[in-house]
Amino acid sequence: MVGLPARGKSTLAWKLYESLKRDGIKVKIFNNGYLRRKLSKENTSYPEFFNPTNKQSAALREKYAMLNLKRAKKFIEQYSTQNRVAILDATNVSLERRKKIISFLNDKNLLFIECINNDTEIIEENIRLKAHIPEFSHLSLEEAIYSLKKRISYYETIYNPLENEQNFIKFDTFDYKILNYKVNNDLPFIERIRDFVVTPFINNLYLLRHTQSFFNVEDRLGGDAELTPKGIQDARKIAQYFTNKKLPLIFTSTLKRTIQMAKIIQQYQNNCRIISFDEFTEINAGIVEGMSYEEIRTKMPEIDQARKQNKYYYIYPHGEGYVSMESRIERGIKKVIYLSKHIDNIMIIGHRAVNRMILSYFVYKRQEDIPYIYVPIDGYYHIKINQNKKLFELKRFKL
Ligand code: F6P
Repeated sequence: MVGLPARGKSTLAWKLYESLKRDGIKVKIFNNGYLRRKLSKENTSYPEFFNPTNKQSAALREKYAMLNLKRAKKFIEQYSTQNRVAILDATNVSLERRKKIISFLNDKNLLFIECINNDTEIIEENIRLKAHIPEFSHLSLEEAIYSLKKRISYYETIYNPLENEQNFIKFDTFDYKILNYKVNNDLPFIERIRDFVVTPFINNLYLLRHTQSFFNVEDRLGGDAELTPKGIQDARKIAQYFTNKKLPLIFTSTLKRTIQMAKIIQQYQNNCRIISFDEFTEINAGIVEGMSYEEIRTKMPEIDQARKQNKYYYIYPHGEGYVSMESRIERGIKKVIYLSKHIDNIMIIGHRAVNRMILSYFVYKRQEDIPYIYVPIDGYYHIKINQNKKLFELKRFKL
């Protein structure tokens, strides 16, 4: 792996690890950071440790890198079988480091995968998440964020993007796009590695709608109403339902009703963080926001009729349509995938139209059918995606 910290290297390494393993290939990850934390007696998380001009710490980091390289080589050579992949998960951003890897592994089949992400908003968010890892537990959140940013800035000073290496893939880890592909076709497993790299993997995604809000009772569109007492009670039941699943992250919209529900679920979990995205805000009904469907039918029948004609493409005056939600929902999903890394269970609490759009991102649907995907308030979709499985299961709660 090649890339600056917080660019999704470890997530990709894990994804490759899981997929190759599922295909019966012996695979192991060699992570330099993990080795550093395990072997060094004192704390090595402070920024100056990563200053390339700090000779002492640079030598120590080099030592760990070489140790991992040796272990990886041994793993590959252990048996005569060719059925082995070692993943070196480290920044490897300098030319010098990569030259060492190339010369040490000599004739071994070597593929560099550079992880690139230039989306500053998502990097910030990822740094915030990383700041919670045990390595920074002795620091405040702000200090940990500063420390990580400083560390990244040191890596930036020695960053040489891939260019002349023999085999490489440059991959945009946020957009899930191969930016550059220069690979010898004889490289073992290359086709599947390439396909695994670009396929989004989801361990378990639970897609829920918020429970009953005051607007739901009156069948009103949009708004920012809170949950009703029944909504709160149901949210508690749902929270209990999920207690046997560890949920480190819950994603919501920025509207009160989804955050309120997430907070209730959070109370029943250990170490559960809530992240709210504007991208998951419910469809904006423009001039009819806050009106009930009945009111629209009687007071603005032309809107009701026009929408029925072509619900996917219809855009509410001064508002949105399903079609115009596409790009923001896609961005929201990419943010979720990026930040979820390889954790087992994640939850999104969204809204009816939002959840339809999220579902349609994962499973192909004709556009005209998307606004009619069934999204009941007392159910959730369980989504799971890997190279062998695409699961979309609607499950119901007993509320
Ligand atoms: O009624 C709840 C709600 O989430 C509204 O806020 C939103 O306008 C609507 O559902 C979306 O569903 P539809 O596109 O079927 O009107």
